[in-house]
Amino acid sequence: MGSEFQLRKESPAHSANLGHNCANEQRTQPKPQGQPPPLAPVQKTKPNRGQQGGKNKEAAIHQNNPKAQQAKPNQQGDKGREYAKPGQVYGNNRGKNYQLGDWMPVRGKSPPKGPNKARPNENSCHAQLSSTFYDRTCPNALNTIRTSVRQAVSSERRMAASLIRLHFHDCFVQGCDASILLDETPTIVSEKTALPNLGSARGYGIIEDAKREVEKTCPGVVSCADILAVAARDASTLVGGPSWTVKLGRRDSTTASHTLAETDLPGPFDPLDRLISGFANKGLSTRDMVALSGAHSIGQAQCFLFRDRIYSNGTDIDAGFASTRRRQCPQEDQNGNLAPLDLVTPNQLDNTYFKNLIQRKGLLQSDQVLLGGGSTDSIVSEYSNSPPAFASDFAAAMIRMGDISPLTGQNGIIRTVCGSIN
Ligand code: HEM
Repeated sequence: MGSEFQLRKESPAHSANLGHNCANEQRTQPKPQGQPPPLAPVQKTKPNRGQQGGKNKEAAIHQNNPKAQQAKPNQQGDKGREYAKPGQVYGNNRGKNYQLGDWMPVRGKSPPKGPNKARPNENSCHAQLSSTFYDRTCPNALNTIRTSVRQAVSSERRMAASLIRLHFHDCFVQGCDASILLDETPTIVSEKTALPNLGSARGYGIIEDAKREVEKTCPGVVSCADILAVAARDASTLVGGPSWTVKLGRRDSTTASHTLAETDLPGPFDPLDRLISGFANKGLSTRDMVALSGAHSIGQAQCFLFRDRIYSNGTDIDAGFASTRRRQCPQEDQNGNLAPLDLVTPNQLDNTYFKNLIQRKGLLQSDQVLLGGGSTDSIVSEYSNSPPAFASDFAAAMIRMGDISPLTGQNGIIRTVCGSIN
């Protein structure tokens, strides 16, 4: 929660969470089917800051209804317009007054206030997750999730992109704890209405569907955070991307952080050093950051998020590409019009994204800066030349991303419904 965090000077290494000894951490396997593990008392969360619950609900419905999305592009875009200014998007403490990377939110001096808030992995040790976590307690969990994801992606291919992004937006905000799925309540300020997610993040309903199916056979066993991680992997494989073994055993938070969702997620106007430091603060390397950006090989972005770039007449954008994109993204209005992040193979998770960057056809500014004469040029070049290098680095980086500050053992809960606390 924002209130638990303080702004202070912080070196990336401090919050990188890696390489610590986890020997003392208690690890609890869920009990077999029908006997959910005892839950720790639910911790009250921060009071509502006056967000409108209705707005949140509308966003959730809208995002899971592709028809609504197509029918109302402006509505989606107009919401974004309020914050669609370079330098202001995705991070209201990242303005010019701050040195890049200097001020990062960190867990503050006040210690976690209860069992559900304790994050032993956050500052003391690395995640203890295991690919066999549900083998005994819910052996069908992964098949069930895959079926839900397969159905969703076959009815709308973009959903693969949306699900991968949902896992990312979960993990970067208080760790991979399904906090992004929590709806607004009098005690929870939802992350769904945070600027990077509002009218943008999609796929909540798919995760909820998968959870409902899993609950039928294994009530109270499989966490929503794990479902997000598995869904992201399945989504990747369904659109031609790499597969990997998902580590499991994450538990779900009882809190969300709207504030952190607006400070810790990277923004489309971020310069390279900010992208690098933002990922470093999550324990991810520059190479991880570039590999993970390859997720922009699928999915779409809204006009207002790339408008400045296509009208910039800059030297870092192909003129023909800019002019094509301008047709569907006028200088005024139509904020929500969508364009593919990868113009060549928009529905295939492959290394074409990096080839596009070499041709100066990255859609977002934050894509093109990966090839802007800095330290990531060589990585972009490597991935553009080698599909296997990209595929294996992407998979490894997704695993590392899934390791960010999970709740394990007695911490957190297994939610029954992903959008709310039991
Ligand atoms: C490097 C910093 C990143 C920035 C600045 C960034 C920013 C964005 C933005 C602005 C959009 C378009 C949102 C919209 O128009 O509503 C987007 C879409 C997307 N992002 Fe990222 N992103 C980054 C990293 C990542 C990572 C690490 C992943 C996953 C591993 C990811 C996966 C996606 C996907 C798949 C989409 C398309 C979603 C869809 O079509 O529903 N992004 N991103």
